[in-house]
Amino acid sequence: MSALAVERAPGREFAFSPDDFRWISEFIYREAGIVLGEGKAQLVYSRWAKRLRASGCASFAAYRKLIETDSEERAAAVYGLTTNHTKFFREDHHFDHFVRETWPPLAARLNDGGKVRLWSAACSSGEEPYTLAMVAMGARRDVAASLLRRDLRILATDLSLDVLKIAREGRYPVDTLASVPGDLRSTWVQRRGDTGEIDPDLRALIAFRQLNLLGDWPIRGRFDAIFCRNVMIYFDDPTKARLQERLAAALAPGGFLYIGHSERLLGAAEKMLTPVGHTMYRKVAP
Ligand SMILES: C[S@@+](CC[C@H](N)C(=O)[O-])C[C@H]1O[C@@H](n2cnc3c(N)ncnc32)[C@H](O)[C@@H]1O
Repeated sequence: MSALAVERAPGREFAFSPDDFRWISEFIYREAGIVLGEGKAQLVYSRWAKRLRASGCASFAAYRKLIETDSEERAAAVYGLTTNHTKFFREDHHFDHFVRETWPPLAARLNDGGKVRLWSAACSSGEEPYTLAMVAMGARRDVAASLLRRDLRILATDLSLDVLKIAREGRYPVDTLASVPGDLRSTWVQRRGDTGEIDPDLRALIAFRQLNLLGDWPIRGRFDAIFCRNVMIYFDDPTKARLQERLAAALAPGGFLYIGHSERLLGAAEKMLTPVGHTMYRKVAP
């Protein structure tokens, strides 16, 4: 629904003008690189209407003023406009490839005393990095026990502190865990009533951090694999190209990049990475 149609919709709790929509679009583009198409006006209205109610603002104009000075509310306004849909084993061909091709030499390196670094960039509520940790460790606890003592770290980052809180807790409704294969689930998830809790040893592999992909990355060292999936769809082409070039630079030579099913490489990254399957790339060794 366009901003004009939303403005004219009867029974609106708050007045919402095309100018409000334009202002919010510019705001979220500046803050997070997210491009809001005209058709998103209804979604934006309903997401921010919740924030207006929670903060006691009587109008969008008052809320716009509030977030100029209140940094906490400003952050909530940004998180409110992100889309956090995710699931365990989403696009599972990536995890099949990871287990088959990417992981065996990395596991060997760990067992030889080396280090391995993985990154789930835009991890949402944690299903992606937990999936990665489960497939890396496998279903056999005795095999995993030696890997768990090695120098393996998974960095998992997102812009939104709301989803990172869920991710850190590692507790999910059992029905959302249905896509986890039974053998991995019985090894790494403890059932408590209607909730499944991720095993503390698996959780300990992952560092959840807030990070805006558009900002500075206070990251040392390079990654053996990066999953950056289903976030670039919200960005415009120049933002995608810049991000992909930085991701490629953050990979170790021979490292792998996994991107979302509807995403494609653009610009400099195309020369730095070589396709190894659908939406999977390998960094060309220098
Ligand atoms: C649709 S989820 C994707 C989650 C997971 N990667 C997957 O594929 O299932 C997109 C995530 O990107 C995050 N996001 C949006 N803009 C971002 C930015 N500029 N920097 C970091 N994360 C961002 C959102 O908060 C959201 O959790």
